[in-house]
Amino acid sequence: MKIIAANWKMNMNFNEINNFFNFFDKNRDFKNDRKVFIAPPFVYIQYVKDKVNKLNLSFEIGAQNCFYEDKGAFTGEISVNMLNDLNIDFVIIGHSERRNIFNEDDYLLNKKVKKVLSSNMKCIFCIGEKLEEREEGKTFDILKKQLENGLKSVNNVENLIIAYEPVWAIGTGKNATNQQIEEAHTFIKDFLNKNVANNLPILYGGSVKPENITEILSCNNVDGVLVGGASLVAEKFYKIING
Ligand code: 13P
Repeated sequence: MKIIAANWKMNMNFNEINNFFNFFDKNRDFKNDRKVFIAPPFVYIQYVKDKVNKLNLSFEIGAQNCFYEDKGAFTGEISVNMLNDLNIDFVIIGHSERRNIFNEDDYLLNKKVKKVLSSNMKCIFCIGEKLEEREEGKTFDILKKQLENGLKSVNNVENLIIAYEPVWAIGTGKNATNQQIEEAHTFIKDFLNKNVANNLPILYGGSVKPENITEILSCNNVDGVLVGGASLVAEKFYKIING
């Protein structure tokens, strides 16, 4: 089974969502070893869930972020309980845009991962090195630090999914090579097998598109992909699902 996950980031509106699902209403021929996830912005989660139910599409719906407290004076934040109330399936934690634009550090992300895993939802925990870190030969040190700190004392790991997204490949059109993907995924898998649990899924993210999906999915230890830009265009995302 391969997970094909869409991270819509801060994109889409009602009209664009309608067009997206009009396409999937007419094009519903999916390879049967594919699991499709979609993470819309918070305000559209319920709308997308209703669409998917109405069209009888077996897509899992999730959120792109959450806070670790249950409720209270945290203006602008959304709790895991609130997401649970929507009956959604997963939450993305630690995306590089959260880390780098909103300064979310490993300590904060560890609290969020634990909170999501204490619910019934899956947690897609993102890690990845920046270009300068790769160029300085620090890729594995960075991945190890992000895994060690972010997953410190986690329980209920059966719902944990890791996404390896090299920051330099996100939104740049420049995906990692097969060799770079396999090296990183093998490193992550070894770490998880030793320290967390065996056989947790590891997704690749960073400029995934119809043209490179088949090659990426053929890499060792790649259990799926996390797609940004190309997931906004129904035709492209459909090709990626079936890649
Ligand atoms: P792109 O597919 O636009 O490079 O984004 C990847 C990503 O950040 C998915 O979470």
